Amino acid sequence: MTPSTEDLLGRIKINGGVPAHVAVIMDGNGRWAKRRNLPRTAGHQAGMASVRECIEGAVEAGVEVLTLFAFSQENWQRPPEEIDALMGLLQEYVSKESAELKERGVSVKVLGELDRLTPAARAAVASIESQTAEGNALTLNICLSYGSRAELARAARLIATEVRDGTMRVEEIDEAAMARRLYTAGTPDPDLLIRTSGEHRLSNFLLWQIAYAEFHVTAVLWPDFTRRHLFEAILDFQRRDRRFGRVTAGS
Ligand code: IPE
Ligand code: IPE
Ligand code: MG
Repeated sequence: MTPSTEDLLGRIKINGGVPAHVAVIMDGNGRWAKRRNLPRTAGHQAGMASVRECIEGAVEAGVEVLTLFAFSQENWQRPPEEIDALMGLLQEYVSKESAELKERGVSVKVLGELDRLTPAARAAVASIESQTAEGNALTLNICLSYGSRAELARAARLIATEVRDGTMRVEEIDEAAMARRLYTAGTPDPDLLIRTSGEHRLSNFLLWQIAYAEFHVTAVLWPDFTRRHLFEAILDFQRRDRRFGRVTAGS
């Protein structure tokens, strides 16, 4: 008999060692829509329910940080109608979900090159961040207009400026100094990276931060993703042997 979703959650708790930080590349909205002869934007709309499921599941499992890849820097090259629809969904999400996120203790941070957003979208971002700032059950990072290489170049620029201005010495440039200048400063690196829709690539996501993340790829398309799939990914993670370059005791 297939275990129920609640059984999976129970197993996660028994196993212990829940990933503190889970990152998700939410992919497959367009294919989901295409299979139903719907416009791609219908897939993005349907994917909103999965965002909700994923957040609920993360809180239930005891995940501390959830980072969702919502819109990449490269996605600016999509047709303007699709970009407009995605930005519209962002604003809809903020107006519909902010209150509930706040109630659940979720604190939202939006990471990326926000200068490229329309003023309305930027206002939505500021609104959700300020409304949820007090939350301490889960930190939800939404990567929007995000590209990892741009994030790294930005960190290099920040460091170079400090060195030029005499507030930092070249000898102080180390891994921690870099990490402090990324959008994710102050959060632990992801332990588990999930990608939906079966693609095995990173698409310029968190290149620095995922150095030692465990990778879980599922064929499920994002709009079909539920709490159950998140729990399956966490259970898969709990079976991994994370060695961090060392030798496991007993081997
Ligand atoms: C993911 O779904 C959402 C975004 C990238 C904004 P896609 O829109 O990439 O869906 P597919 O990959 O074309 O199926
Ligand atoms: C990655 O998905 C970006 C997001 C999920 C937001 P894409 O669909 O844009 O990635 P590629 O083009 O398949 O690599
Ligand atoms: Mg895609």
